[in-house]
Amino acid sequence: MTRAATPRHYLMCAPAHFQVTYSINPWMDPTKPVDLPLAQTQWEDLRDRYRALGHTVDLLEPRPDLPDMVFAANGATVIDGRVLGARFAYQERFEEAAAHRDWFLGHGFTEVHEPDHVNEGEGDFAVTASFVLAGRGFRSSPLSHAEAQEFFGRPVIGLDLVDPRYYHLDTALCVLDEAADEVMYYPPAFSPGSRAVLARLFPDALIAGDADAAALGLNAVSDGLHVLLPQAATGLFDPLRARGFEPVPMDLSELLKGGGSVKCCTQELRGPEANG
Ligand code: ARG
Repeated sequence: MTRAATPRHYLMCAPAHFQVTYSINPWMDPTKPVDLPLAQTQWEDLRDRYRALGHTVDLLEPRPDLPDMVFAANGATVIDGRVLGARFAYQERFEEAAAHRDWFLGHGFTEVHEPDHVNEGEGDFAVTASFVLAGRGFRSSPLSHAEAQEFFGRPVIGLDLVDPRYYHLDTALCVLDEAADEVMYYPPAFSPGSRAVLARLFPDALIAGDADAAALGLNAVSDGLHVLLPQAATGLFDPLRARGFEPVPMDLSELLKGGGSVKCCTQELRGPEANG
């Protein structure tokens, strides 16, 4: 199959104040030191790679009191230029939601909805042409799924996450081609019923194995051709190539200490013109 990249618009936040001072997922160990200059370099590589591929990257101002703010995917979900704000599950990240909302209001986004229910943005919402896939079980409330469906006017499919290592949907599933409803995912992260739903909706999905999932290989970003993913997820490279994608391995080892990688650092701003 011939693949084509489409230009994307991303929002990122530099890890200027990244730290692991608390633990809200099993990847976070506050006793392990973070190499901040290295985190910054790794993050800049990702930002520069997006720009070199022709994508637009906007930047959110990092705040010293919000060490997880580098994980910009969690701050909102934007579809058709409409912004569903986040509401974080843990107090440590509460204030990130307002920082994102202020950014959107200051950048010409007029439809910005402050949510009633907990949702951690694109951490738990993934967008294809036909569906919004929505994770629940660890962070986002099931009630946020109905809220998202009403706000976006798109069918929301709730998926139950059952393994604490894969606490956000974007640690266990990645949209490879939204127009074609093509995804890759790691079945053991989901309940049996949700696995059956995924198999029904995406019979041709790329299925990831244990080692690649544990390298956070599903925490990837695709532009329709290039798939930027953690470099340790080597088992995904050939299956991606076989489908016509170009894997772009990235080293985000320092950010992995916070429980995130490529996708967590990247919020996609989908405009009205996007098919996603
Ligand atoms: N330390 C952050 C948290 O636990 C990591 C968030 C990762 N982001 C993501 N989109 N999965 O909330």
